[in-house]
Amino acid sequence: MKYTGLIDRLIKDRDLTDKEFTGVLLCDDLQFNEYLFEQARTVREGIYGRDVFIRGLIEFTDHCRNNCYYCGIRRDNTNAQRYRLSEEEIVACSDMGYDLGFRTFVLQGGEDPYFTDERIVSIVKKIKEHHPDTAVTLSIGERERESFQRFFDAGADRYLLRHETADKSHYEMLHPSDMSYEHRMKCLRDLHEIGFQTGCGMMVGSPGQTIDNLICDLRFIQTFKPEMVGIGPFIPHHDTRYADHEPGSVGMTLRLLSVIRLMLPEVLLPATTALGTLDPDGREKGLMAGANVVMPNLSPVSVRKKYQLYDNKICTGDEAAECIRCMSGRIERTGYRIKTDRGDHVRYREGCENDRK
Ligand code: SAM
Ligand code: FES
Repeated sequence: MKYTGLIDRLIKDRDLTDKEFTGVLLCDDLQFNEYLFEQARTVREGIYGRDVFIRGLIEFTDHCRNNCYYCGIRRDNTNAQRYRLSEEEIVACSDMGYDLGFRTFVLQGGEDPYFTDERIVSIVKKIKEHHPDTAVTLSIGERERESFQRFFDAGADRYLLRHETADKSHYEMLHPSDMSYEHRMKCLRDLHEIGFQTGCGMMVGSPGQTIDNLICDLRFIQTFKPEMVGIGPFIPHHDTRYADHEPGSVGMTLRLLSVIRLMLPEVLLPATTALGTLDPDGREKGLMAGANVVMPNLSPVSVRKKYQLYDNKICTGDEAAECIRCMSGRIERTGYRIKTDRGDHVRYREGCENDRK
């Protein structure tokens, strides 16, 4: 079987040459893929066992000052139906999520100037007051270091900020000139230095992406050493310039999940909603390829469809309780099980303060 030797070496060295990574990522041979996924699962199970961590996703605003060309809620999309949840509504989502067994809440939104540092701090503190045994993840885009520090001091534990692409010219193709590759990268460094469990990541198959761009992403991930990596396929949105662009490949996304698991064995790796949107069994396949996190939606059903980054997003109709029931069934069918726990990265578990970096 071509390339299986490379996988064994990737497990041992956590590294391959660019040419070798390219060979692995482009190989869609069934037997080879099964071998790759199996090895990724073995490594994942060695660290996190058969547990899957669940994160309650609260999409609290779709207002955004940015204009990322691929994104359905970008500023210039006048067809987007804008909404923002109040602090009370956001905290109520976390209360409901807590009762359903969630111990991590992910607050995600566009870059909405209404949510000043003070408002974010107040929301984080409220959730932590109500539920001291939970973790709060923020995914609210770029801010300055002082703001990140304030969020951390208020009790936020993790921050997701996908780098989107580690290649500067590709970044500049996907974003308007008022957005800066350097600033996004600086944000990621600041978040890590402050002490957040930090997540980067990219879309797979984004417009203009080459295999060399993906290798560049892997090299960035390897040096940055994030605690989390969020990757999912690009999916077109009808109101963007990429409406007719083909979506990213499920197979490539799965191979990348496995490769990232083998490069960074301890990483927290979600099987994303985008993967489940392109393939009805996408999230299960993600778990079988080395992912160990899923993020069911806790947002009120009335706003779910409005937070539309791409077309045909799944899970927009079901109440949270139904979502978690459906997700539990899906997870159990893979042989894994939901863990009711904050689900920290192993280096950030209590008593591991000295092991960081
Ligand atoms: N505003 C925050 C930020 O910029 O990090 C968080 C929200 S943003 C919508 C979350 C992620 O959605 C982005 O990092 C991007 O990778 C992903 N996304 C946006 N448009 C997408 C599309 N058309 N297909 C797949 N993923 C998309
Ligand atoms: Fe801001 Fe997509 S452009 S969230």
